[in-house]
Amino acid sequence: MQQRTLGPFTVSAIGLGAMPVSMNSDNRFPSHDEAVATVRAALDAGVTLIDTADIYAPSWDLMGHNERIVADALAGWDGDRSTIVVATKGGITRGEEKDFGRDGSLDYLRTAVQKSLENLQVDVIDLYQYHRPDRWMVYGDIIQNLKTLQDEGLVRTIGISNASVEEIAIAREVLGEGGLTSVQNEFSPRHPGSYDELQYCVKHGIAFLPWSPLGGTGGGARAVGERFAAFAEIGQAHGVSPQQVVLAWELSLGETVIPIPGARRAESITDSAKAADLELSSDELARCSAAVGLEV
Ligand SMILES: NC(=O)c1ccc[n+]([C@@H]2O[C@H](COP(=O)([O-])OP(=O)(O)OC[C@H]3O[C@@H](n4cnc5c(N)ncnc54)[C@H](OP(=O)(O)O)[C@@H]3O)[C@@H](O)[C@H]2O)c1
Repeated sequence: MQQRTLGPFTVSAIGLGAMPVSMNSDNRFPSHDEAVATVRAALDAGVTLIDTADIYAPSWDLMGHNERIVADALAGWDGDRSTIVVATKGGITRGEEKDFGRDGSLDYLRTAVQKSLENLQVDVIDLYQYHRPDRWMVYGDIIQNLKTLQDEGLVRTIGISNASVEEIAIAREVLGEGGLTSVQNEFSPRHPGSYDELQYCVKHGIAFLPWSPLGGTGGGARAVGERFAAFAEIGQAHGVSPQQVVLAWELSLGETVIPIPGARRAESITDSAKAADLELSSDELARCSAAVGLEV
């Protein structure tokens, strides 16, 4: 499978977003065995990047659910574990009273990282992504907290998520040249709004991980070919799914773009992974961009 650079790592151009097996818009969850099988199907298809987060869980009191599934999938997998990069996230809190909150303090993040290490059954986290800005704090101070955790040897590389160009620039300044490995923002035909951040990352050699790259679990991803006919038509011409065309188009937007499509079913990620090697003509790519309303 086509490979891309993610900081010090080389990973498959298509990653797996592990979230839907633990959290999804239509609240349908596979069994633990099915969830593990989906993650292993990704690994068997050549996917070497798995994205998870501490908050991906069916309910607030099951934090770490998704990280533990990823760990279980990797533990019993018969491939080479050392080739797999697991990216997790922290900085969003979950509680009974207020389901989702934010905390970018050093104490909170250190405790969150320690729990993620335990859930993932690893000594160091490959890529730790700050999930969503805590608007009560100065962004640069939060990034400095992440740097402290890196200096303590708890995380190998640092990424951020749901960040504006300004926040990405602050993170680059705090972490120094090459210190920011990735930015994970929502980007899909349905939501091309992060194109500025995508371009900024490509220009500065930072990996850009489109989240919900197909349009999300609530039906957006399944219906992407109906909502954006160009992807279905081009898919038909190549004998592939509209979803593969979406992902191949996203890959074409820059050398550092690494989409992380989600999946509950093994078939979904097995199909999506093939997008890494789908070649589209410049005319077809232009049709995709036009369908989404992007001037590329
Ligand atoms: N940083 C953030 O704030 C944030 C927020 C949301 C998501 N994320 C990350 O982004 C990842 C992906 O986002 P997402 O899961 O919300 O949305 P998505 O990747 O756009 O869509 C996932 C849905 O697409 C379906 N699907 C995937 N590949 C398919 C294919 N080839 N053909 C047909 N259907 C296909 C899956 O169906 P089945 O379920 O039936 O398999 C799944 O329900 C998440 O797993 C998570 O890691 C990050």
